[in-house]
Amino acid sequence: MAEVNRQWLLRARPSGHLRMDDFEYREVPMPSAPLAAGEMRIRNVVFLCAPTMRNWMDPPGNSFYPSIPLGQPIFAPSVGRVVESNNPDFKPGDRVFAFSSWQDYSTVGGAAVRAPTKLVDGISFVDAMGRYGLNPITAYFGLLDVGAAQAGETLVVSGAAGSTGSTAAQIGKIKGMTVVGIAGGPEKCAWLKNDCGLDGVIDYKSENVEARLAALCPKGIDVFYDNVGGDILQAAVNNMAPRGRIVLCGQISSYDSDAQAQGPRNMMRLIYGSIRMQGFLCGNYAARFDEAVRDLKAWSAAGRIVYREDLHDGFDKLPSAFATLFSGGNQGTLLVQVDASAADTR
Ligand SMILES: NC(=O)c1ccc[n+]([C@@H]2O[C@H](COP(=O)([O-])OP(=O)(O)OC[C@H]3O[C@@H](n4cnc5c(N)ncnc54)[C@H](OP(=O)(O)O)[C@@H]3O)[C@@H](O)[C@H]2O)c1
Repeated sequence: MAEVNRQWLLRARPSGHLRMDDFEYREVPMPSAPLAAGEMRIRNVVFLCAPTMRNWMDPPGNSFYPSIPLGQPIFAPSVGRVVESNNPDFKPGDRVFAFSSWQDYSTVGGAAVRAPTKLVDGISFVDAMGRYGLNPITAYFGLLDVGAAQAGETLVVSGAAGSTGSTAAQIGKIKGMTVVGIAGGPEKCAWLKNDCGLDGVIDYKSENVEARLAALCPKGIDVFYDNVGGDILQAAVNNMAPRGRIVLCGQISSYDSDAQAQGPRNMMRLIYGSIRMQGFLCGNYAARFDEAVRDLKAWSAAGRIVYREDLHDGFDKLPSAFATLFSGGNQGTLLVQVDASAADTR
């Protein structure tokens, strides 16, 4: 019997909050269609659950990001191994990072999509997607390049206990900043203070964020690294220091709903404060990823970065694990391993 290809499809576009019956499980024969020039077939090994995938489940209409067609596997970043290739730069056995989809075997590459990249030897599939993967790399360039972070400045990070946020906050400490983290609930706030060494924490679920920012950042916020948007972005705008920088990394507070993200209301404050607000994508820095991984490895080896990972095991776990991003149920980088070779380093 031919090997089965398990898939999770988008059955319905979420209306309001994501529901498990927006997804459909299916088993189909392993794909065998001839590969077009530049394409390759990969065996997915570890998927990153990225919050922005929830945006991709919305109807088409926003030209800046893709919309997953109904009845098709959920688009997702993954690391995997090439099993068949019609691309001269990749051969069977190569380990790659790819813009892939929730199935055992995906066809990636070709002209229309972001090119896969090879993983370096010596890093497991899990670490390539987690500890040294997209989220920590995003935090590195978002804070240092977009935020132009400087020693002695005050940094505030929202979504601070998450994968991207906890890395940004700790890089801020390494660079000599005073760092305040905003997160949901006492456990996450205690972890940020006690394990990550932040100077101040705000529990947005039980505290008045704007008032607490004013108290904890008496000279104003020099860099606000924002993963959340909405009311938390507004509270930070109201507390920015002159010539401050707002790094728009994400807007997770609006992803799992039908509503558009709310922008700040008092933009004159940005004008009079000469404050810069800038969005960015991790992919903008693809040519410099090695630089980030080199520093992240050195800081990890020196015990200067505490890393938390939420690793789920099993293809069946994909939808339920993904949904925890929007309830705050994940503790650190949310990964799902779907193949026994996830620990392989070459
Ligand atoms: N620009 C880029 O290239 C790029 C790349 C990677 C990630 N991102 C963005 O970075 C952000 C974090 O992503 P991640 O993968 O690192 O996930 P994460 O922070 O590890 O997990 C998501 C966290 O967001 C918080 N959250 C969920 N709903 C919220 C709400 N309504 N209000 C406030 N907080 C909420 C929850 O933490 P609490 O328990 O604290 O609420 C949850 O644990 C996302 O906005 C994502 O889109 C951007």
